[in-house]
Amino acid sequence: MRIYDIILKKRYGEELTDEEIDFFISAASKGEIEDYQITALLMAICFNGMTERETATLTMCMARSGDMVDLSSIDGYTVDKHSTGGVGDKTTLIVTPIVAALGGKVAKMSGRGLGHTGGTVDKLESIEGFKTTLSSDAFLSQVNSIGLSVIGQSGDLAPADKKLYALRNDTATVDSIPLIASSIMSKKLAAGSRGIVLDVKTGSGAFMKSVEESEALARAMVEIGKSAGRDTVAVITNMDIPLGNAVGNSLEVIEAVETLKGNGCEDLTAVCIELAANMLTLVTGKDKETCVSMAKGAIADGTALTKLKEMVAAQGGNPEWIENTYLFPKAEYSFEIKEDSDGYIKSMDAEKIGVASLLLGAGRNKKSDVLDFSAGIILKAKTGYKVEKNETIATLYTNDKTKISAAQQKFCEALTFSSEPVEKQQLIYNVIR
Ligand code: URA
Repeated sequence: MRIYDIILKKRYGEELTDEEIDFFISAASKGEIEDYQITALLMAICFNGMTERETATLTMCMARSGDMVDLSSIDGYTVDKHSTGGVGDKTTLIVTPIVAALGGKVAKMSGRGLGHTGGTVDKLESIEGFKTTLSSDAFLSQVNSIGLSVIGQSGDLAPADKKLYALRNDTATVDSIPLIASSIMSKKLAAGSRGIVLDVKTGSGAFMKSVEESEALARAMVEIGKSAGRDTVAVITNMDIPLGNAVGNSLEVIEAVETLKGNGCEDLTAVCIELAANMLTLVTGKDKETCVSMAKGAIADGTALTKLKEMVAAQGGNPEWIENTYLFPKAEYSFEIKEDSDGYIKSMDAEKIGVASLLLGAGRNKKSDVLDFSAGIILKAKTGYKVEKNETIATLYTNDKTKISAAQQKFCEALTFSSEPVEKQQLIYNVIR
């Protein structure tokens, strides 16, 4: 078999066999084909797409290119969630303790921030002492005892995806549905859970800017999950506006804790209840309505907050910080952004707000950048809000004063205003099973 013939076949829009896809992934992982040949095939896939079968085979080959986590020693239904990435997305910190408090077994590997989007691992590391690296035995035993552990990606999970993703990033071949679907699902399948709930974000802060594209990606991922024998559900949610009011690591942990205490804002709480309820339908087999009230109940009776504290303590963190969030260090500098006339916020480019937070020190420009955990933004007004002259729209936080000006400029670029009232945006567009 020759990679040249496989590239030519896909260039003519033909369907690749399982053997050809297997050959490609195995040779790419072993460094037996050149990067320019890999990228030529990736570009041909971008132009000509892949069938459901090709995408499922590509995903399984990538998943099997490294470690496949074995969760069989966990007693109970293992369930995972994944978000395609957004701004202010702290849902893992809220949803996973809710589900674990109600009997689900959540063995979750999360990522670090990428570009304008934040990462759960960075957020958790803003809690004093919290360890995001555990041995495999400690990880499994914690999930067995308390039902929940969230750690960084460990071992050699889907190394073929790492290789392909780095090349895609450099060659404008990221936004292809079969390539994104196989990239995400290869890691989810390798992570081993029986049930998977995908939060597919749509809008200005997401990879997929339209609902139609997001639905197509969601369907592709649900099909892959099904063909691999996993129970898979995708929820399409709004990322045209940042989720919740906090953007930035410790600011988001504090908002997550407030949400678990029942003081969360409407949009964040609604998305978390939807995701948790979908996970619970898989875990319990109960109908969605029942699972919605179970999820709300775990917030109301404090069991979900207790579960978060248990996880923090089990992973070396200080649970007092969860009880008393004023213990999180505050940023030295803050800056209020005020509106200079009356009006309504017409739109908020979530990606630009994510970049403004990154510029304050909450995200990385390069892998080696050190994060400022208390940097970020608290939004006081969002799309559709009526604001008055001199009213504060947002407060910026940082420990480096020199970063404020660029962040302020980026934040202001993100907003448009209208003198007319603005229609409320939909929050949850669709659920695909
Ligand atoms: N996230 C991934 O893990 N892979 C993609 O291709 C896009 C988003």
